[in-house]
Amino acid sequence: MITFPEFVYGEACCKSKPELAALLNAVVLSGKVINSEIRRAGLADLLGDTGDQNVQGELQTKMDLFANDCLKNALLNRRVAAGYASEEEEHIVLFNDGLAESARYVVLADPLDGSSNIDVNVTVGTIFSVYERITPIDSPVTIDDFTQHGRAQVAAGYIIYGSSAMLVYTTGKGVHAFTYDQSLGEFFLCRDKLQLPSTGTTYSINEGNMRNYSQGIRNYVANCQQENISTGKPFSSRYIGSLVADFHRNLIHGGIYLYPESRIYNQGKLRLMYECNPMGFIAEQASARATNGLLSVLDIDPDELHQRSPFYVGSSELIKKLHINLVSML
Ligand code: AHG
Ligand code: MN
Ligand code: MN
Repeated sequence: MITFPEFVYGEACCKSKPELAALLNAVVLSGKVINSEIRRAGLADLLGDTGDQNVQGELQTKMDLFANDCLKNALLNRRVAAGYASEEEEHIVLFNDGLAESARYVVLADPLDGSSNIDVNVTVGTIFSVYERITPIDSPVTIDDFTQHGRAQVAAGYIIYGSSAMLVYTTGKGVHAFTYDQSLGEFFLCRDKLQLPSTGTTYSINEGNMRNYSQGIRNYVANCQQENISTGKPFSSRYIGSLVADFHRNLIHGGIYLYPESRIYNQGKLRLMYECNPMGFIAEQASARATNGLLSVLDIDPDELHQRSPFYVGSSELIKKLHINLVSML
């Protein structure tokens, strides 16, 4: 029975950089608190919207704000990060209390992914991404520390609040998964060096938007709905509407998740820095692929903090077929 703190402090990269292990422990602590609040949200008047919108014009739920504050404060109070950015914050948050400025890392997060599902008891999650700052230590962080390309991530992961809570993370040496034992208040290692199967029989896309997608995407989905030569059956369609849940299923069983650009979202809907990059880092560490239809999302040079990107992630063989479909329509 290996606990998360035991595992993370034993990881080679964290042995040489204990600050990174301390930061990941702070993220995981906030995950425990968010998990506990989600389990009692219906009793604690924590369901529903706040009536406010985030910088991207999306309605904020009470749990979005709770999760954001929880993660931000867990990092700030432990001085493990020099700054924080989130889809719920308009600007980067500088932890300039004189102490946190000496921290080496910045954190970007989607504090509550899939939050529109929270009122109906469907799985949600917290997604996080960690970069080493490029500005000098002991100075205030700047936007440049937060808009590095995804390959510069030193750690990324998610905590999924499902039938059980699980932590999945990478520091660039494979993907590790931990299950939360609520009675002990501890995450225990359950899968080490997870590999996403190279193919699969599940596709996930919001099919209600089909008429707004490109012909290449429509052709690919039509192919999925044809009889598959190896199984004699069409693919199964599974779309939860929480990226974290759709991704997690594919991580275990194989499959493909698609959020294309469309007539409604001309850059796609998902956020490069908070959703695509961390999931892309995990995917590539698990031998899968994550692209914007042309290149790995990790190779995109970000223009701005809240930018969106088309996102295709999953089994390498399925992404390869998707690309063939997209290229043939160029
Ligand atoms: P968030 O709740 O953080 O805003 O993210 C929601 C995202 C993602 O989790 C999900 O896959 C997608 O939005 C669903 O969007 P549609 O409802 O447009 O399918
Ligand atoms: Mn999200
Ligand atoms: Mn969110």
